[in-house]
Amino acid sequence: MEVQEIERLIKISKERPLLPETYVPWHLEPGSNDIFLPEILTSLHGLEIYDTLSPAQKLELGRHELVQVIASYAWGECLFCLFMTRHILTLPLDDVEHRFLLRELIEEFRHQEMFGQAINKLGGKPIRQSGLHKFLGQFSNKYLPADYLFMGSVSVELVTDIYGNYARKAPNIYPVLKKMFDLHNIEEARHILFTKNLLKTYAAKAGYIKRTLYSYVILFNILFVRTMYVKKEIFERIGLKNPDKVYKLAAKNFKKKFSETCLKDIIGFVDEWKGFNRSTRWAWRWILDAKV
Ligand SMILES: [Fe+2]
Ligand SMILES: [Fe+2]
Repeated sequence: MEVQEIERLIKISKERPLLPETYVPWHLEPGSNDIFLPEILTSLHGLEIYDTLSPAQKLELGRHELVQVIASYAWGECLFCLFMTRHILTLPLDDVEHRFLLRELIEEFRHQEMFGQAINKLGGKPIRQSGLHKFLGQFSNKYLPADYLFMGSVSVELVTDIYGNYARKAPNIYPVLKKMFDLHNIEEARHILFTKNLLKTYAAKAGYIKRTLYSYVILFNILFVRTMYVKKEIFERIGLKNPDKVYKLAAKNFKKKFSETCLKDIIGFVDEWKGFNRSTRWAWRWILDAKV
């Protein structure tokens, strides 16, 4: 990426900061018709059981699942900040990349605070990550080289961005959440632009094996994100009988839904540097239900 272009991104970040404190209308309470998550993104929508839920149960399902989604974002962003803090230590302070990443860190810390505040506002109780998620998140964060971690972070950003777009464009979404997702979308667009360009240089130099590994890192990051949202405990909270059975159906349903709604941009990105090949394509189809 041209130095001038990165300077431009830094300038926007400095001159037009979006502060969650003032940008999000925290004083507004949810209206009687407001929703927290568009139906299409809930894990049960599309299943027969969804039609048997009362309007109150549907609303609660959306509230709990939204809380789960943003708590997962915040956790992922916190891991990202850990890695990034180590990474910028390797770059001189006056280096343009270092200065951009500092702006990104500042914004990511604000996002985490914003997500936490939204969870409090909604009276949410996020369910902690599973032991496996914690282990994989922390292990990869500590031991994977920087280019792989950038690959992972851009894939999570691209997927969650689409998720946020659905939410902020839903006509009756609770205004606090709309503004929260608007802010996130605007700032993440700059992060994505920067990281994609950085990765194009890495990918251009990569041969078959490295591109295959990059593709797998992205695939597992997406799987990682997808499996953090659907939780059995949420079905118990909204009073469903047989939460175990519902969980199984929901996980399967969500896999399909996620593939249909959230994978387009990341597939385009991986395709750009030929990340789909004989060693990776089958896994994308099998594990993510991706149309590649
Ligand atoms: Fe963020
Ligand atoms: Fe970001």
